[in-house]
Amino acid sequence: MHNVAVFVGSLRAESINRKFAKALERLGKDRFAFNFVQLADLPMYNDDLWQSPPAPVLRLKADIEAADAVLIVTPEYNRGTTPLIVNAVAWGSRPKGKNSWAGKPASLIGTSGGGIGTAVAQSELRSQLVILGTVLMGQPEVYFQTKPGLIDDNHEVTDEKTRAFLDGYLSKFDAWIGRVGVKVQG
Ligand code: FNR
Repeated sequence: MHNVAVFVGSLRAESINRKFAKALERLGKDRFAFNFVQLADLPMYNDDLWQSPPAPVLRLKADIEAADAVLIVTPEYNRGTTPLIVNAVAWGSRPKGKNSWAGKPASLIGTSGGGIGTAVAQSELRSQLVILGTVLMGQPEVYFQTKPGLIDDNHEVTDEKTRAFLDGYLSKFDAWIGRVGVKVQG
């Protein structure tokens, strides 16, 4: 069982990315314990705040560091990732010399109503995370186009082929963490 810190890049109550993340949690419940990282109360990044670091920032860094791996579920905003994710990535990367992302296994995924299913957002985010030393899973890539009814109110994926595809993704993520990750105690 791998402990995964899950970042959802939307605060919207009806977020399709949160729904997608919950569907992945349900599908992978025999392989993963998901910890949904709280992002709503993070201040906007400001270097001055390190003089007396806000509790949500310290919590964010502890969540990353305690996890076996990170899963970032990003919407696509204007062909990039969202401000929420950019802000969280910045906080995790500092203070200088205490980058919580370094060496952390991670995978990117996301959904939108559009046909490219967050491909550009993931690509933009990937370049940031590589610079920070995150160990990113290259394959499989998942660019998920949300369609009405594909994930029901209980977070079940209703289409069998789609469910099998996502289950395969989770199995590969699980095996990959086992290969590249160092088990965090606990
Ligand atoms: C979007 N949306 C969007 N979709 C897409 O596929 N490519 C894009 O570049 C954009 N750009 C964009 C910018 C902004 C500011 C917003 C608010 C939205 C649409 C987006 O995919 C849609 O609103 C999703 O529902 C957002 O994800 P959540 O909040 O439902 O998880």
